[in-house]
Amino acid sequence: MEFVRLLLVFLHLLGMGMLVAMFFLQMRAGAGAPLNKGWLHGAGLQLLTGLALVGLAPVTDQDYDHVKIGVKLLVLVAIGVLALVFARKPAAPAWLPRALAGLVVLNVGVAVFWT
Ligand code: HEM
Repeated sequence: MEFVRLLLVFLHLLGMGMLVAMFFLQMRAGAGAPLNKGWLHGAGLQLLTGLALVGLAPVTDQDYDHVKIGVKLLVLVAIGVLALVFARKPAAPAWLPRALAGLVVLNVGVAVFWT
């Protein structure tokens, strides 16, 4: 089971990397470009892998802080809602990539510093 946990953490970290990459792609696309769908895919991957890690905690012998997980989930929901709303629009507002990236960095901070 430890391998399954490590595999999920591996995918979880790749999902984080994908969200960071989306920021740079979005900045390169410039003002007036639509929101890259990769934001949604990265957020979806974080949700699936995060929930799987928490769901499997009893069999992987992990004891996660539920308040911390709840905060991470809320931040991810904010990312997902923003990405869903603005993915339908022809152009992403200029503030959006920085706001999304800020929320991603916030979740990395929560993951690392909330012990
Ligand atoms: C943008 C969203 C997210 C980012 C950037 C993110 C980032 C991270 C990072 C960097 C770690 C590794 C921390 C470390 O090993 O010290 C981690 C671990 C973890 N994350 Fe997330 N996370 C996100 C969303 C979520 C969500 C929504 C959940 C749960 C619903 C979640 C559950 C977990 C769990 C359970 C671990 C610990 C895994 C382990 O070491 O066994 N994450 N996350």
